[in-house]
Amino acid sequence: MIIPKAKRLQSLKEYYFSVKLAEIRQMQAESKPVINLGIGSPDLAPSQATIDELVSSANNPNNHAYQPYKGIPALRKAMADFYRDIYTVSLDPDTEILPLIGSKEGITHISLAFLDPEDEVLVPELGYPAYAAVSEMVGAEVIYYPLLENQNWQPDFEALNNMNLKKVKLMWLNYPNMPTGAKAERRTFEKLVAFAKEKKILLCHDNPYSLILNQEAPISLLSIEGAKEVALELNSMSKTHNMAGWRIGWLSGAKPYIDAVLTIKSNVDSGTFFPMQAAAVKAFQNPIAWHEARNAIYKQRREIAYQLLDALQCQYDRQQVGMFIWAKIPDNLRDAGELVDKLLYEKYVFITPGFIFGEKGSRYVRVSLCSKEEVLKEALSRVRQN
Ligand SMILES: Cc1ncc(COP(=O)(O)O)c(C=O)c1O
Repeated sequence: MIIPKAKRLQSLKEYYFSVKLAEIRQMQAESKPVINLGIGSPDLAPSQATIDELVSSANNPNNHAYQPYKGIPALRKAMADFYRDIYTVSLDPDTEILPLIGSKEGITHISLAFLDPEDEVLVPELGYPAYAAVSEMVGAEVIYYPLLENQNWQPDFEALNNMNLKKVKLMWLNYPNMPTGAKAERRTFEKLVAFAKEKKILLCHDNPYSLILNQEAPISLLSIEGAKEVALELNSMSKTHNMAGWRIGWLSGAKPYIDAVLTIKSNVDSGTFFPMQAAAVKAFQNPIAWHEARNAIYKQRREIAYQLLDALQCQYDRQQVGMFIWAKIPDNLRDAGELVDKLLYEKYVFITPGFIFGEKGSRYVRVSLCSKEEVLKEALSRVRQN
């Protein structure tokens, strides 16, 4: 390559799953029957009404043009209604909602809208890898704040207050948490809003898991009094509506923040295909029973995943929220990589090593519930065989 890459690529590595999935595909091409319990891509389908709407809308020749940068009004209204019904949060669909091409995309747009190269960003360790990767991509400095098991994986406010936060402009958080499965706690959110106001930090909360295997009422950070002054919240149809491949998410928050993100976004993409937006509106009409049926399937799968982790002598909390189980590996193993490689190369079963979510994950693994019961059972029987 005679043209050098941009400097930002010197520290940025290809996304772990992008590399690992290529290896798994290669193994499968060599007829090795790899079972992938790594990635959290729902295998279940969206509701039939959603798919029917997509098809009928795509058959209309008038529906193939560019769309508004901020999505069609009906979609923004459906998103605002979702916030009203699920979180009792009131949002103006015209000014406080911005549909996105998935929440992952939103992480980049938010970072471009609010971070300059000399700024610092608080990123949870453990956390979704894109927060740190994108911060680095825009030249900002990543400051990790710890989530500790003995504090229910909530932020350690004592540690936070002891940090030098002068240059911190933005803080990422995510509850229910991925990868730890920790639930959202209203008390944590209240403390975070007070902290952000005092330190003048923009809180960016990523909330894609609040309807998945959650025993408690889902919470939005925006439901905390005064939160809109300092907080934005990402949400997504990927997990709640089994629409991961569709790429539909959205950002909620006060108009000035939303407008800043829209300025970036309108220069980057040209909106989402109308039939997808119309179908998403239908998906938001899925009755509660549809969500319960999805969770009932995950719950059954989770029982087998527990047995799999028991067979591997891993320890885990049974109160986790979301579509994964986060588990601690036995003390006699060197690290999660040892267990993951052994499983992949000897049993052809892939689970995610915890270190991809931060160094503190080096003794943990994550098992996804996005495989059919019979697949999980096959993985279990392979693991049980000597
Ligand atoms: C915590 C978290 N945030 C964001 C995403 C990305 O979701 P989306 O499909 O909406 O881009 C994921 C996907 O796995 C996730 O786990």
